[in-house]
Amino acid sequence: MIPRIVISLAFLISANAVAHATQIYCDTITKDDRNSTINDMCKIVISDQKWNTSSVDLSSVILPKFEKFSLIGINGSFSLDDFFSTKTSLEKLHIYGSVMHVIQIPAKLESLLVTGCQTRQVVIANTDEYRYGIHTLVLVENQISEIPHRIDQLIQLKSLDMANNLLEKVNFTEFNGLKELNFVDLSLNRIRVVSIEMVDLPKLLKLDLSQNLLKSIPRNFGQLRALDDLNLSYNKLEYVEMSHFNGLTKLKVLDLQFNNLLIGSLAPAILPALEVLRLESCHLQQLDLFGIEMPKLKKLYLNDNKLEYVEWFNKEVYEGAGLNLYGDRNPWNCNWLPEMHPRVKFVRQQDRIICRRFEKNVCCVGNDYTTERKADRRWQVVKEQNRQIFMVLEEQQDKVRILGENCGMIGEQLAEIENTLAKVMRVVEAIAARVD
Ligand SMILES: *[C@@H]1O[C@H](CO)[C@@H](O)[C@H](O)[C@H]1NC(C)=O
Ligand SMILES: *[C@@H]1O[C@H](CO)[C@@H](O)[C@H](O)[C@H]1NC(C)=O
Ligand SMILES: *[C@@H]1O[C@H](CO)[C@@H](O)[C@H](O)[C@H]1NC(C)=O
Ligand SMILES: *[C@@H]1O[C@H](CO)[C@@H](O)[C@H](O)[C@H]1NC(C)=O
Ligand SMILES: *[C@@H]1O[C@H](CO)[C@@H](O)[C@H](O)[C@H]1NC(C)=O
Repeated sequence: MIPRIVISLAFLISANAVAHATQIYCDTITKDDRNSTINDMCKIVISDQKWNTSSVDLSSVILPKFEKFSLIGINGSFSLDDFFSTKTSLEKLHIYGSVMHVIQIPAKLESLLVTGCQTRQVVIANTDEYRYGIHTLVLVENQISEIPHRIDQLIQLKSLDMANNLLEKVNFTEFNGLKELNFVDLSLNRIRVVSIEMVDLPKLLKLDLSQNLLKSIPRNFGQLRALDDLNLSYNKLEYVEMSHFNGLTKLKVLDLQFNNLLIGSLAPAILPALEVLRLESCHLQQLDLFGIEMPKLKKLYLNDNKLEYVEWFNKEVYEGAGLNLYGDRNPWNCNWLPEMHPRVKFVRQQDRIICRRFEKNVCCVGNDYTTERKADRRWQVVKEQNRQIFMVLEEQQDKVRILGENCGMIGEQLAEIENTLAKVMRVVEAIAARVD
């Protein structure tokens, strides 16, 4: 327990003090966990019993000589800019244990944390008068349904944490211009749509979109070119087109675990820096690495899927120095193992005790490595890929129509492509029918 310390403010109240100034004292002083020049944090409990934010002239409150404050017990929204107007600089403000539906970001603050305050709206002023100094914005566990408007005004922003809110869509173009932005956490929201158009975020290293409702990934992920760590786990992803990650030349960690996935690559996919790929619990029945280049891959997690083998996991695709594969609880087929790349090492499995047959650290369940099942699974991917091609064609056709008559020829060509695709599909269907 930290003893309750009441700060004497006598030294603060000078002759210049405004007529109806309200003095505020720290209820407790806590050590702030982060290192900084001024380590202490002043905690102020704002309750109706003590004073009433709506009856006090906020712009004349006198605050103790601290640079870090925490406010608790607030019920209602009031202007933080007014409240802190007598402060010339302010390092950190943490608001919790309060109800504050609207938060206006104070201009001079460096770091703002609003946690569990039922906040619905975050207001960023449209101003040329001052530049926002904020570099850390934490708004976790609130009820915010939109990325704050004019977020691009927070030009110093390095870290944005909006985990556990009610966001439904994110448009990364709105962040454009945030040259220092390094970390974005949007996990535990209800995000269904992510759009990435022309955007330059040269320092965005870590993006967490886990625990949302994404069904597909945007085509232009490559625009977030600095990404080092991308978390898409615990979503509703059905098909991941690996080539949509092209351009992420620095990506080291890609987490796709706990989705209901098909993995495909319509175009060659290249992830030159990828070291860790997590695909646990993805209901994977099929994984074909053909055309997916990951030369630096060190760890591949495939636990808890329905895989019998990994297609094309051979010398042609994997040229790295060595890779650990984690593959517990899959019905691995033993006949596949000799085809596997020699530098791929299965990490000893936990299910050793219940396993009847071990080969090269792999619990082998079956031997019937039949073409029939292989064709069946391949077919699932082909169908999904065709769906994707048709989607692109549809989008392009709309654009072509907007441009008008000159594009008649392109329209014909598109129709030709569609016809050809339909023919290919019929042939594939015929082949599949023969396999059955
Ligand atoms: C805080 O300072 C101590 C010693 O000065 C250092 O060991 C520690 O890494 C610092 N922590 C952070 C988060 O910077
Ligand atoms: C707070 O001040 C407002 C405006 O003066 C007043 O209407 C309200 O009743 C006050 N609340 C309390 C709890 O004193
Ligand atoms: C906040 O104030 C409103 C009325 O202004 C009241 O209905 C509500 O119960 C208060 N909430 C808390 C947590 O004190
Ligand atoms: C994304 O934001 C940009 C800039 O604000 C806007 O031009 C664009 O239309 C938005 N895109 C979508 C899909 O909302
Ligand atoms: C991704 O997010 C999930 C859930 O939020 C978490 O369990 C997992 O550890 C994260 N992955 C990485 C690589 O940090």
